Amino acid sequence: MLRNLDASYYVDPALHERERAAIFRTHWHLLGPASQVAEPGQYVAAELAGEKLFALRGRDGALRAFRNVCPHRGARLLEEGAGRCDTLRCPYHMWLFDETGRLRRTPWFGEDASFDTADWPLTPASVAVWRGLLFVSAAPELSLAEQLGDLPEEVADYPLETFVPVASHRFEMRCNWKTYTDNFVEGYHVPGIHPAFAAVIDFAGFETVAQNNMVRMTAPQKGGSIYGGKWLWMWPNWTLSVFPGGMNISRINPLAVDLTEQIYHFLFADISPETEAERTRTIETNCAIVREDFGICEHTQRNLASGAYRPGPLSPKHEQGVAWFQARVAAALAQKVARAAE
Ligand code: FES
Ligand SMILES: [Fe+2]
Repeated sequence: MLRNLDASYYVDPALHERERAAIFRTHWHLLGPASQVAEPGQYVAAELAGEKLFALRGRDGALRAFRNVCPHRGARLLEEGAGRCDTLRCPYHMWLFDETGRLRRTPWFGEDASFDTADWPLTPASVAVWRGLLFVSAAPELSLAEQLGDLPEEVADYPLETFVPVASHRFEMRCNWKTYTDNFVEGYHVPGIHPAFAAVIDFAGFETVAQNNMVRMTAPQKGGSIYGGKWLWMWPNWTLSVFPGGMNISRINPLAVDLTEQIYHFLFADISPETEAERTRTIETNCAIVREDFGICEHTQRNLASGAYRPGPLSPKHEQGVAWFQARVAAALAQKVARAAE
């Protein structure tokens, strides 16, 4: 019998710190559509499980990523989100860096013969683009292609890179990132939590397959459904769902052991004014579904934290994805412990 993870995985701050090192630092993170950094000077900055990184398109056309940490006294260089900067200047004491991360100017610093600007560049990070999506990593253990597992083949027939970003939405929920992920990788809760959604899919035909860094959930659609019937989750923390004429992508990001944010981007093939009402309906319906999940996840989190829960059984039909995800988390943490002991 498959069993749910022990509650301590969801509430223990020390374990959360181990996850940050064993999972988040070593993996690639979805930053969003790569079109956000199409032009020189454009950047995307994000805090990923507590580590600030940014990707920047230089004036030379090259895409680079750095830690968003000034080597002087540790200030944040760029505000989180997508934007444009003419110069890379720290807002604190105005040190100036070039697009390669080299320190160029240190106004009013004073004379110090032992100080050489060449010794104080920004710390580089890794950046990659896959099919129009932008990823960064502080210290990747695998190439992005390896991490993506079965995803490239799964979406080979969808014109992902032609979709245009139309809107992004950020949600915050008071639960562990795994409480929400467990919820995302099963359709078992659809009749209970999403009755309107359940009405437009054939729930008896809902299928979940977990393999090679991806959980694929599919369901036959009834007439008029705007969902598309394919929801994908990728290890360790991002999602991609295709629907007629577009897709949404999201990053599930821990802010603390009991606080999680999810940032969605909605992209469409047709962004003409005639389709605006339909696009708005798709975005609003999807966001409503996400909100429906928060309530159940937040109360589940409180029960996990209460000490009143012992690991229950997981459905072999519907919770394969939950079991797969939880096993990966446990293995990543165990591997980290084994390495530390070497
Ligand atoms: S912390 Fe950046 S210039 Fe001082
Ligand atoms: Fe849900």
